[in-house]
Amino acid sequence: MPRRFLFVLGSSRSNGNTELLARAAAEQLPGDVEQQWISLAGHRLPDFGDQRHDTDHGRPADDELALLLDATVAATDVVIASPLYWYSVSSHTKRYLDHWSDWLRVPGLDFKKTMAGRNLWGVTVLAADEPSVADPLAGTLNNTAAYLGMRFGGVLLGNGSAPGDVRKDTEALTRAKTFFAREPELARFPHQAV
Ligand SMILES: Cc1cc2nc3c(=O)[nH]c(=O)nc-3n(C[C@H](O)[C@H](O)[C@H](O)COP(=O)(O)O)c2cc1C
Repeated sequence: MPRRFLFVLGSSRSNGNTELLARAAAEQLPGDVEQQWISLAGHRLPDFGDQRHDTDHGRPADDELALLLDATVAATDVVIASPLYWYSVSSHTKRYLDHWSDWLRVPGLDFKKTMAGRNLWGVTVLAADEPSVADPLAGTLNNTAAYLGMRFGGVLLGNGSAPGDVRKDTEALTRAKTFFAREPELARFPHQAV
C-alpha cells in the first residue's frame, strides 16, 4: 500500500507553531508520499454523543465527520498535530479522537482491524521549557495507538508561545528533518512494556 499521510491539525488558530513544525517535518517526505492536511478548526465536528451501545449504527450522517472518517481510513499514517493545551491534546483533537469510538462500531468498516498496523505520529508545540510536561499528550497518543494495534512513531516536540516562535527552536527544526524517517514500532501500553 503506497504511503499516505493524513495531517490532523488541532490548533485553535491558523498558521500556528504546531502546523509550522509539522510542515517542516512533512517537507522531508518523499515526493511520492501523498499528504492530506485537515484543520479541525475549519471542519467543525459535532460534539461526541455516546451512542456506542445503541443498536442502529451506521456511517456518520454529518458531512464533516464522514470526511474525517474517510480521510482517516485512507491514511497509512495519521499525524496528530496538536498544540499542548493543559498538558494534553487540544479540545478539537480530543473531539476527533472521541469519534473514533463511534467509528469502531460502524458495520462493515472494521475500524480497529483497518487501522491495525498503520502508523500514528504526534507533533506538538508547548510554551513551557520542560518537555516532560507534554508526557500526558504523548501517553494519550501512545495508548490510542496501542489500543488499535497501530505503530507509534513518537512525538515531535517544539517550543513556542506566540505564532512563529517555533522557528527559533532550531533543535526542534533539526529533529523535524528526520522525524518521519524512523520506523515506528508496534505501540504497547506502559504495562506491556518489556
Ligand atoms: C488553551 C491553552 C492551553 C495551553 N496549555 C499549555 C500547557 O499546558 N503547557 C504549555 O507549555 N503551554 C500551553 N499553552 C501554550 C501553547 O501550547 C503554545 O502557545 C503553542 O505554541 C500553541 O500552538 P499553536 O501555535 O500551534 O496553536 C496553552 C495554550 C492555550 C491556548
